Amino acid sequence: MARLGILTGGGDCPGLNAVIRAVTRRALDRGWEVSAVREGWRGLVDGIVEPLGRREVSGILPRGGTILGTTRTNPYKVEGGVEKVLATFEREKLDALVAIGGEDTLGVAAKLYAEHALPVVGVPKTIDNDLNGTDYTFGFDTAVTIATEAIDRLHTTAESHNRVMVVEVMGRHAGWIALHSGIAGGADVILIPEQPVTVEDACSLLERRHQTGKDFSIVVVSEGYELTYASGESTLVGGEARASDQFGHVVLGGVGDALGREIEERTGFETRVTVLGHVQRGGTPTPRDRVLATRYGLKAADLVQEGRFGQMASLRGDEIVDVSLAEATRELKTVPPEWYAVAQAFAG
Ligand code: F6P
Repeated sequence: MARLGILTGGGDCPGLNAVIRAVTRRALDRGWEVSAVREGWRGLVDGIVEPLGRREVSGILPRGGTILGTTRTNPYKVEGGVEKVLATFEREKLDALVAIGGEDTLGVAAKLYAEHALPVVGVPKTIDNDLNGTDYTFGFDTAVTIATEAIDRLHTTAESHNRVMVVEVMGRHAGWIALHSGIAGGADVILIPEQPVTVEDACSLLERRHQTGKDFSIVVVSEGYELTYASGESTLVGGEARASDQFGHVVLGGVGDALGREIEERTGFETRVTVLGHVQRGGTPTPRDRVLATRYGLKAADLVQEGRFGQMASLRGDEIVDVSLAEATRELKTVPPEWYAVAQAFAG
């Protein structure tokens, strides 16, 4: 090993800088040089690569965001993109790459490894916790902590005004953030994409709760939950993918407002809606995420040293192990029924 590149791709996430610091520190300790690949795969497509040293990673452990910048560039969607990635890799004399990202960024890494033997290892990032092959991604704990704090605050105002409070959280097509923050915050109804509870049933739960003397309620809804009706009709609330997203994801958001209107009309309970949005992704990582990100970073550097490319650092129980990038990106890790059952035990 002589020179190691590091990139962060996709949506930013608390803990990215902690990974960058851990990989860089271990690489420098081993006498390698480290290069910062700017703005995800775009840095390799456009050749934006700079030296990364001890000074650049000093003090970044608690900082949110990523000092490397990030984009949703997909080299497979850019004219000559893959060739450009390989050319930059060669020109910058990189011997290995650590790609820190979710299913999109790591999906590209898996393909470049399989098709071009690119010496890459992955680190699992995303607040959504929807990456296969690992128990938890870093960033998730911070997002859940932020959402739980918000739910706690909404409880007191809900109770004072006898209102229903709807909280919309992120998570894309997986309900992990809604489920965990909803359980932790004692939500009365939790709506996630994997369990399409109907609007009618959700309203009945609220009505039943009010009949037992509880005049306020908290509803947590995941942005990817489809508004589902007893008639069988369902609607995913969102918009077309943005041009800047070369992975073509639909833009989610807005289901909270739509649901809030339905609840107020159908039950007559005064309802307010809070959309947490990017607050869930900003700011300092929790201690748990800092530790997980640090362990992932050290593991990634070890995988590079061992020449075990095409692998991703992963958490199994309390152990940091590794899985193939192919396995990690094979399918999304969604919420299984046994996890949803925990939430159901407290519904209504
Ligand atoms: O994947 C992380 C995530 O925050 C999702 O939960 C959300 O749907 C999406 O990214 C938002 O993306 P953007 O930052 O492009 O608005």
